[in-house]
Amino acid sequence: MMIIMICVGSSCCLKGAYELVELFKAAVASYGLDDEVTLAGNFCTGNCNRVGVTIQIDDKTFTGVTPAGFEVFFKENVLAPLGKL
Ligand code: FES
Repeated sequence: MMIIMICVGSSCCLKGAYELVELFKAAVASYGLDDEVTLAGNFCTGNCNRVGVTIQIDDKTFTGVTPAGFEVFFKENVLAPLGKL
């Protein structure tokens, strides 16, 4: 099971964290990944930056993720590791 944690701290919220939550939910549903992926929110991990949102996938931390960059991010870091590409 892959665990995706999206930071919903105040800085990340301003950069589109909730929009990303919705994008993740929709993508997980449309690829039928409900049994393979768990989505969760978490609080500030001290990785805030000016570009975008902090997302942790299992033991990796990604910073600066934006709704505009979601599609590429999801392909590279979710679909590819799960062997869905
Ligand atoms: S608010 Fe998200 S890392 Fe700080």
